Amino acid sequence: MGKEKVVFFCKDCGYESAKWLGKCPGCNAWNSFVEEKIKKEIVANRSVSNVPKSELKKLKDVSVEHKQRFTTGFEELDRVLGGGIVDGSLILLGGEPGIGKSTLVLQVTDKLTTHGDVLYVSGEESELQVRLRADRLGIDNDKIYFYGETDIAEIEQKIINMNPKVCIIDSIQTMYDEAISSVPGSVSQVREVTARLMNVAKKMGIITIVIGHVTKDGTIAGPRLLEHMVDVVLYIEGERFVSHRIVRGVKNRFGSTNEIGIFEMAEKGMVEVTNMSEMFLTKETNQPGAATTAILEGTSTLLLELQALTSHSYYNVPRRVTNGIDLNRLNMILAVIEKVCGISLGAQDVYVNVVGGIKITEPASDLAVAMAVISSYKSVPVKPGSLFIGELALTGEIRSVVNVEKRIKEAVKLGFTTIYTTKYGLEKITLPKEAKIVKVNNIKDLVKNIQND
Ligand code: TYD
Ligand code: MG
Repeated sequence: MGKEKVVFFCKDCGYESAKWLGKCPGCNAWNSFVEEKIKKEIVANRSVSNVPKSELKKLKDVSVEHKQRFTTGFEELDRVLGGGIVDGSLILLGGEPGIGKSTLVLQVTDKLTTHGDVLYVSGEESELQVRLRADRLGIDNDKIYFYGETDIAEIEQKIINMNPKVCIIDSIQTMYDEAISSVPGSVSQVREVTARLMNVAKKMGIITIVIGHVTKDGTIAGPRLLEHMVDVVLYIEGERFVSHRIVRGVKNRFGSTNEIGIFEMAEKGMVEVTNMSEMFLTKETNQPGAATTAILEGTSTLLLELQALTSHSYYNVPRRVTNGIDLNRLNMILAVIEKVCGISLGAQDVYVNVVGGIKITEPASDLAVAMAVISSYKSVPVKPGSLFIGELALTGEIRSVVNVEKRIKEAVKLGFTTIYTTKYGLEKITLPKEAKIVKVNNIKDLVKNIQND
């Protein structure tokens, strides 16, 4: 037995320290350090394992042919991955418990068996549970092997003996390395187990998908500390009781990371949603307090409805509540409305909500937020069929946004007839004839418009 050493780790990012710290220097999280005991012989332990040794070779002799991409069977997911799963890559799939990680992975492995055997290692569920899930998903595949084990040394051995094309680890937080005395799911365990898996996966060229739980309270070590070790990081987001799921790429060594894919959790597993931009749209929006905008998520355009409610405040400091947009951004927009449009919101509570639980990070939605607020305040709906695109400057001026052409085209395709946006950036693009494009310079002009109609 080696000597035990006490170290402290940040639960969030894995920062290591000899003493306890209140604030993590790595990720600035407060109160995130946990004490763990590790043994000094870990490294020695790894070098005696029987993972094949790699050889020294010239870089130009490295064969590039086998780096194919395999389709996952879902166009949405392939796009997020940059065109499919790269052979031999290590992928981390994170998400909250119950969001659908095991389901999606099982569906993908079914597809991947066209290229070879799949080893499905589960430390979470029994063989019966996994089998029942497979039945539910209609998967009847004799190339998927189940292995219920949590000891990484055994798993490593199994991978070496079996040499599968694909290996699934469900989940990383249940796996442990005997040499480390802390419990499974602790920072040092999660890190060490991943390092060992990476070692085997890379040397043998096995596609490895590691599932990691993310919990809101952070009681177990999060997959975030693994992000730098793996090639691709995907997260499944969504509300547990709403059926749509968003798969988001946050790291990708083989492609761009700003793509999302939208799925729906259905009776028989995850189903991709291809009419993405329609998904969150309420067709008849002629209620006061609603305005629609077009945002970009990677290469896809999403049309989103923004809802606002202003109501008389009974507090000294009125409430401002947002869901899906940044609160500071809302405060800024409200200040512009007050100053430029002369609408006094000082005695109003303001609530803003993005329909569908989507989070908007780009300022292109400013104009729609402002219009929703004004529309609610005046109790006048915006004209049916109108869409608002633009960033708001502090002067009330409407600024151009990237890729406005794409947004307009998508909106027109989905039946929007009047598009309000700035004149800037429209000079060089060909605008669709089906829709009226209203070029507004300042939000002031738009408010007049709302009153007239
Ligand atoms: P699961 O993949 O087990 O989640 P995770 O691995 O992320 O913890 O999915 C759990 C939920 O999905 C569960 O509440 C049941 C639901 N579900 C469906 O709605 N349809 C299905 O076909 C399957 C297999 C699960
Ligand atoms: Mg699971």
